[in-house]
Amino acid sequence: MKQNHASTLRVNLRRQVDDSYEIVVGENLFPRLVRDLCRQPLGHRYVVISDSTVVKLYGRKLIRLLQEAGLRADGLIFRAGEKSKTRPVKQRLEGGLARLGVGRDGAILAVGGGVTGDLAGFVAATYYRGIPYLQVPTTLLAMVDSSIGGKTGVDTRHGKNLIGAFYQPKRVYADVLTLTTLPPREFISGLAEVVKHAVIGDRTLFRFLEQFGLRLLARDPAVMAQIVRRNLLIKAALVEADPLEQNLRRVLNYGHTLGHALEALSGYRMLHGEAVSLGMVLEGKLAKALGYFPEEEYLRQNALLRHFGLPVSPGPALKTWLDRKVSADEIIAWTFSDKKAKKGKPEYALPARIGRMKKIRGQVGLPVEAGLIKEVLNDSLQGR
Ligand SMILES: NC(=O)c1ccc[n+]([C@@H]2O[C@H](COP(=O)([O-])OP(=O)(O)OC[C@H]3O[C@@H](n4cnc5c(N)ncnc54)[C@H](O)[C@@H]3O)[C@@H](O)[C@H]2O)c1
Ligand SMILES: [Zn+2]
Repeated sequence: MKQNHASTLRVNLRRQVDDSYEIVVGENLFPRLVRDLCRQPLGHRYVVISDSTVVKLYGRKLIRLLQEAGLRADGLIFRAGEKSKTRPVKQRLEGGLARLGVGRDGAILAVGGGVTGDLAGFVAATYYRGIPYLQVPTTLLAMVDSSIGGKTGVDTRHGKNLIGAFYQPKRVYADVLTLTTLPPREFISGLAEVVKHAVIGDRTLFRFLEQFGLRLLARDPAVMAQIVRRNLLIKAALVEADPLEQNLRRVLNYGHTLGHALEALSGYRMLHGEAVSLGMVLEGKLAKALGYFPEEEYLRQNALLRHFGLPVSPGPALKTWLDRKVSADEIIAWTFSDKKAKKGKPEYALPARIGRMKKIRGQVGLPVEAGLIKEVLNDSLQGR
């Protein structure tokens, strides 16, 4: 009888990669960036990707400095705003790169906020199956959060950040002087992630924020540089411990499970940080109700958020940003459809005290009974 022989071959691809990179924080960093590229080129030519606002403030200046140093540099621009973080815009940027004749030897400089970083980083991840890129964050949110960690991607109508890749930048340059031109609402929104970082892992930073809040609000460069550096250390330590967000890195999601739901339900009229601030108020309340987070610590968290001008009352905030009433059930339903939901169940990262998160059997993503969430939401939506 004829036998069907199958043979198996193996492709050995055990990988050892070193994705390490440096983050430079300071003032007036563009000359330094250009010098670094002259000494240690990332490619033979550079393309600055910026949005329509940032290009005028910083993008053009960087292109000019690169060209003056004898480097080949071009720019690609997209319209400012979250609405641009899409596949069609990515496609347009890729078309732009191809028309410029950029090949494998090109490198991208993402100059702007989180939208630019996520979008340009994703373009870099897939163009020629990956070309190097630098992050040059110009918003507080991008400096303390999105520019490091390597998460890149775009939104689709099926979900925010639904399509993307983990792709690390070669270096990050956070020039705190760029923050002086940021609109106040954007700056304050970025402070929500700063408070979040302090609550999840740095009690000393929290105290510093309480003490130097006013200098921070005045955007004192020395204070900002210190804050950005400290925040980056917290995020970097978590990214190092858990690059693919399997457990520990999930503490960064504090305030984000319910925050994302509110942000989405507001049709993204609420800024991300505003939603995260409300998310921390609500999730902190869950942690308090579960007996994890002492009341005085919870009130201290909320007082700092309020001091920075962030929203802390979900009821009134939702009324401002929504023209209809949102029920607790609707918010809960949204958290179930979020892509971060594990096996269809939303998870919560909850604080145990300011500076430390609750872990159960080593896990930081904790399930919470829908009944309790509903109770907390109902209570908060009525403004109590
Ligand atoms: N990759 C990650 O790990 C990660 C983490 C958090 C958030 N994000 C993403 O980041 C995005 C939000 O980032 P964002 O808040 O920086 O938004 P953004 O990039 O849209 O910037 C906000 C606005 O500020 C303007 N702007 C930027 N820098 C400026 C400056 N220095 N002066 C004046 N105006 C300036 C921009 O043109 C824009 O209008 C979201 O898409 C979110 O999903 C990603
Ligand atoms: Zn966030």
